[in-house]
Amino acid sequence: MRRVSYDGDRLGLRDVTEADVPCLHAVYGDATATQHMPFAPRTQDDVARLVEQAMEAASAQPRLLYVLAVVDRTHHDVIGVARLHVETDHPHSAEIGFGLHPHQWGRGIGTDLVRLLLSFGFKELGLHRIWGARAPANLPAQLAMLTAGMVEEGRIRHHVHTPHGWRDSIVHSALEDEWIDR
Ligand SMILES: CC(C)(COP(=O)(O)OP(=O)(O)OC[C@H]1O[C@@H](n2cnc3c(N)ncnc32)[C@H](O)[C@@H]1OP(=O)(O)O)[C@@H](O)C(=O)NCCC(=O)NCCS
Repeated sequence: MRRVSYDGDRLGLRDVTEADVPCLHAVYGDATATQHMPFAPRTQDDVARLVEQAMEAASAQPRLLYVLAVVDRTHHDVIGVARLHVETDHPHSAEIGFGLHPHQWGRGIGTDLVRLLLSFGFKELGLHRIWGARAPANLPAQLAMLTAGMVEEGRIRHHVHTPHGWRDSIVHSALEDEWIDR
């Protein structure tokens, strides 16, 4: 199995391991970090199961799911989690998701993370299209994706069911040829 280890200037991406469960729980279990996600804050056991599933998915052939720890390259700690899911029926295309611990917000790291995910998907995986869906009210995610070069495509009505009911999503995408031109 090919392990992911992909570095940018200040962030790195690598496959998650069991040791990352507490750091991932600091994101997925946090009420603020999950406020725009379609699920209630996860328990540590939920996150342990997610990590187990991610590790299994990492050895699938072809590999479709990448659940990656986001590492601060200066301090060598895990500050967030990123997800890239290649579409089974459209393997040129993948959906990304990402979250950082709230202590890290507002310093440009989210934008760097989106850039690094695009670079990973286009250069390492050879994808043609990468897209992300955000809650309409999620302004930091909107700005991070726009600044990183992902254009807004439109709205998917009632895309996800959240603990508060149906929620629309706004889709952003980047295409490999446009991205290279940038
Ligand atoms: C989305 C997320 C990764 C952004 O991370 P971040 O490190 O704060 O992002 P940045 O510092 O790069 O900021 C991105 C933009 O949002 C703006 N911003 C950040 N926090 C903001 C806030 N609370 N209110 C308004 N704007 C905000 C920044 O000024 C920046 O705008 P600019 O490019 O015009 O300067 C982070 O908010 C997060 O982890 N959220 C929880 C998980 C989530 O919602 N993921 C997205 C799923 S689609």
